[in-house]
Amino acid sequence: MDDKNFSVLVVDDEAALRSILKEILLELNYSVYLAEDGYEALQKIKNQDDIDIVLTDIKMPRMDGLELVRNLKSENSDIIPIMMTGYIDSEILVSVLRAGAYDFIPKPFDAQAVELILKRSVKKRKMILDNKRLMKKLKTANKKLKAQSDKLKQKVVIGDKILEKKYEELKYISETMKKINSSMDYKKTIHFILNVVKKVIGSKRASIMLMTEDKKHLKVVDMIGSSFINEKVSISNGVAGWVAKNNELLYVKDRTKVSDDIKKLLKADRYEARSFVSLPLNTVKRGLIGILNVTKDKEDEVITEEEVDILKIFSQQAAAGIESSLTYEELENHYLLTIKALSNAIEAKDEYTRGHAERVTEYAVELAKQVGYSGEDIRTLKFAGILHDIGKIGVPAEILGKPAKLTDKEYDLMKRHPEIGESIVEGIDFLEPCLKIIRNHHERIDGKGYPDGLKGEQIPGIVKVLTVADAFDAMTSDRPYRKALSVSETVKRLKINKGKQFDSKLVGIFIEKVIGKFFNWRSNESKGN
Ligand SMILES: [Fe+2]
Repeated sequence: MDDKNFSVLVVDDEAALRSILKEILLELNYSVYLAEDGYEALQKIKNQDDIDIVLTDIKMPRMDGLELVRNLKSENSDIIPIMMTGYIDSEILVSVLRAGAYDFIPKPFDAQAVELILKRSVKKRKMILDNKRLMKKLKTANKKLKAQSDKLKQKVVIGDKILEKKYEELKYISETMKKINSSMDYKKTIHFILNVVKKVIGSKRASIMLMTEDKKHLKVVDMIGSSFINEKVSISNGVAGWVAKNNELLYVKDRTKVSDDIKKLLKADRYEARSFVSLPLNTVKRGLIGILNVTKDKEDEVITEEEVDILKIFSQQAAAGIESSLTYEELENHYLLTIKALSNAIEAKDEYTRGHAERVTEYAVELAKQVGYSGEDIRTLKFAGILHDIGKIGVPAEILGKPAKLTDKEYDLMKRHPEIGESIVEGIDFLEPCLKIIRNHHERIDGKGYPDGLKGEQIPGIVKVLTVADAFDAMTSDRPYRKALSVSETVKRLKINKGKQFDSKLVGIFIEKVIGKFFNWRSNESKGN
């Protein structure tokens, strides 16, 4: 472990188990606390403010593990709860995750599994702590900004019109900060930052470069006023390289009046702007993450010292905003792993659906992109695609794997899986947008689907996308009661059912543009069908 000794509270009613775990954890350099049931654990947590992770058994007297975790969640505690359970089945897994547990360790456990899972939890814990620190830093920065704008406000009273304009600008920045901080998509955050720069500084050209993973290059991730997006520069070259290496801003008010050193630097960079400033973007956790470049090109316009001051404060907050979105993305990737674990739980129960969820997701995402969906919708589809059949956990395995036609009663049970799925995922915040897909992925355009019998436009577009992908994969895979159909036969059936079961336009796009990306098949093979 790097910077800090993380503390783990072990909660188990078996003394022997507690002491084995204690030994393992001490060996791994964790500080260890012990409690024999949920009740005692809560007391310890109240009295001890340095507990990072709780490792708890499920079944215990007085207060069991699920109750303990629910208690932590209801108190908005940011301690990471991990469950230990001797008996893993999908229902337990779901109840464990729904109670708010971050992960689980199967019993009997081996030291390696414990080490691995704790490592992951520490990573998440670090993120939480970093985020807290970030928030604090942002608050201080906001205070500074406010102080500066108050100062300017006083001057405005004196009647300086230019300052009055600046005051308005600072107010605008201050308000936009809130938005920067709440965005979860770093590309959006960056775009937003550049637009603020454009508005406040009046610059027609600005860009943000981010450090690449190897830390040797800077890549232009977004730009206004020009189109060098994705261009990479080495950190040992030119203006950006200079700023990165020195971690200092470089301000050239007027390039016609600079020293020879700077002239050389500009020459190496093909930098043509008349007036520019390049500012390092630094964060607490990652250090230098990138550079903000702002330029003014017009003959009669230069970036003033005052504007550079504003940009200095602004770039601090922009960096914190970008970092917070990047952190969010990392958290989200962890969520995706959790979801995959959930989906593996159904696939373990129903071998015919193995791989189904992932293929459906791939087809659905591709179709959605072809139709023009982006950002949030694609993210939702990625999660929902994996989870759409999660409700099958609640359908008896004999029905899922029955190698013959289902009886009416069995079919009725099977038809409950979208609602069961919805109830499993309900209440898990980041999966909220997936609920409609999970619930309604068996609706039909003609209203004959289930569970709600929605018709045509009543079915959200993104749900219809998944329905086509789902049906395609179901037909092209082996099922308990029949072999896989060929792609051509499947296409034929999609066409027969368009406008009835499926959205006609989506079927058309799927056949024309999506299938060919996954199968050696061209849409003209089916012409005339
Ligand atoms: Fe389904």
